[in-house]
Amino acid sequence: MARFFIENYGCQMNAAEADSLRTLLIASGHAEETDPARADIVIINTCSVRKTAEQRIIGRLGFYRGLNQQNGTKIRSVIMGCMSLHSGKELRAQFPDIVGLVWGTYHKEQIIPYLNRLASGITIKEEHLDWDTFDFLEASPEEQFPFKAFVPIAHGCDNYCSYCIVPYVRGHEVHRPAGEIMDNIAKLASQGVLDICLLGQNVNSYRDGNMRFPELLAKIAAESGIPRITFLTSHPKDFSKELARTMSEHPSIMPFLHLPFQSGSDRILAAMNRKYTAADYMEKIGWAKEIPGIALSTDILVGFPGETDEDFEATMRIVEEVRFQDAYMYRYSTRPGTAAEKLPDQVPEKVKLERLARLIPRQKTIGRELLTPYTGEIHTALIESVSKKSRHILSGRTHNNIQIFVPGEETLIGTIVRVMITGASGMGMKGEII
Ligand code: SAH
Ligand code: SF4
Ligand code: F3S
Repeated sequence: MARFFIENYGCQMNAAEADSLRTLLIASGHAEETDPARADIVIINTCSVRKTAEQRIIGRLGFYRGLNQQNGTKIRSVIMGCMSLHSGKELRAQFPDIVGLVWGTYHKEQIIPYLNRLASGITIKEEHLDWDTFDFLEASPEEQFPFKAFVPIAHGCDNYCSYCIVPYVRGHEVHRPAGEIMDNIAKLASQGVLDICLLGQNVNSYRDGNMRFPELLAKIAAESGIPRITFLTSHPKDFSKELARTMSEHPSIMPFLHLPFQSGSDRILAAMNRKYTAADYMEKIGWAKEIPGIALSTDILVGFPGETDEDFEATMRIVEEVRFQDAYMYRYSTRPGTAAEKLPDQVPEKVKLERLARLIPRQKTIGRELLTPYTGEIHTALIESVSKKSRHILSGRTHNNIQIFVPGEETLIGTIVRVMITGASGMGMKGEII
């Protein structure tokens, strides 16, 4: 038996895989520690989407080296996930005292048989960094919110956006058979899960034979009994009128859509290999805005090589025209092996930061303005946790995924309540349970 601690970085796909791995580790007799200093093995599920993500992981390995030196502990780590693919060997060479096993993005559960040997201090040379057949792990309830679950339905990506490392670390896009998805969701429902998020790097390009994503979504909504269903991440090129219609037709499909646009400039979008123009994107946003109660969010990338002030203004225009509830805004980070790595005309860091410094506050203002009309309305919300502010204030999410704070008792965590909205609170709202 080994005492393990899982550190997770990156996107929801990594979170889903960590949740599945945790379930399997416990089922095979290993014990989870809540404090890494007491663990034999720290499993670091890495991300390499931006340089900053990788730097954090290097920092963590340094932290564990320091901990072992100070306390005489013998913590060893498993480096798994996206960063292993191109940096695993380097990390092993730089931290031979800490890194006991390097593993990639496929068959994460196959590290389990190595755990006892690792815990006794043995370094394991075997590794799995190549892509063969991808097996979807059974999705488990989330560790933090056991009434919610991420359910991977697609994995990998064939889009090759020129800035993005994901296709090189996750491999080709594969789709999980619909029957297996339905069985997994039925089991989650029987475990009391109320909220599922279907996952894929490019979730809305899903297909199984003749069944496309809107049909799968409709089937889950009709048959699973799960009251809250959402999905991430949609690519604009695959967002169809039919998908918007399916979202409108089923009350259990949450009126929430995350649709990254990255840039508002057609020239930059072409250089990014995004396969749509700003006008195409706006047309699709038009369809999405027909969905009753819809809240929109997006990803925006500033400072792609060659981005001029004019290109950036086009990005600002989309932000003004669409009015997103929320946005994840990043500055471009050069990734090894991607097509954009070799592009001339890299934008200086200072300019990227200046652009973000204009974009972020403007988007936040829009997000807050969009909250005003909710005051006085009644919405349902899933109560997730006690808020950070006070033990007597609960934090939840409305059906369109906006954070809401309500006074109430801890026993309400994991239940769906009706809430009267009384105003805005930061980037979310506050209300009273009715
Ligand atoms: N599959 C999803 C998201 C993948 S990564 C999609 O297609 O939208 C999540 C976000 O990280 C991207 O939407 C992009 O905005 C950002 N990102 C990806 N590569 C990046 C890079 N090299 N530098 C900075 N941000 C990046
Ligand atoms: Fe990366 Fe583009 Fe694939 Fe998203 S669609 S994972 S941004 S290559
Ligand atoms: Fe990061 Fe890998 Fe996800 S690079 S964003 S953990 S697919």
